[in-house]
Amino acid sequence: MNLIKKMLAAHAAVLALWAVSAQAATDDAIAERIKPVGEVCVQGQECKGVGAVAAAAGGGARTPDDIIAKHCGACHTAGVLGAPKIGDTAAWKERADHQGGLDGILAKAITGINSMPPKGTCADCTDDELKGAIKKMSGL
Ligand code: HEC
Repeated sequence: MNLIKKMLAAHAAVLALWAVSAQAATDDAIAERIKPVGEVCVQGQECKGVGAVAAAAGGGARTPDDIIAKHCGACHTAGVLGAPKIGDTAAWKERADHQGGLDGILAKAITGINSMPPKGTCADCTDDELKGAIKKMSGL
């Protein structure tokens, strides 16, 4: 009788351990499923989330409009923090004239300038993609 009780207790302990590890595995799976889609991307680090979203959205190249809608428009649509407004070609031209042309302001957009964040928050944008967005916003 005593032996059977011991065996049952041991069995219960094994079951409990198994349940705990099964729960841990489930927690990981849940965390994976509910993790945020739009994770913050840090300049200089690979930004897997954005690539994955871009790939999910049909993959391939992003158009200047895609990049502006996702990244630049937040500030450049309304001219937040003194950002030159989309379509205000004179404002962009004045900047370009001071920075040595379109490539000059592109360089500033890549490094960031004052309140303008590096790459305008599009950390995985190529220089060409940024240039396309700048051309489109400035009309230059
Ligand atoms: C958080 C707001 C913000 C976002 C997002 C943003 N910009 Fe800007 N941008 C600014 C501000 C503010 C300035 C003006 C900076 C200054 O001269 O003080 C600016 C200026 C610029 C300039 C002119 C630089 C110069 O040399 O005068 C370019 C080019 C530019 N942005 C491109 C972009 C592009 C391309 C994107 C999207 C990929 C983008 N910006 C996203 C705020 C932003």
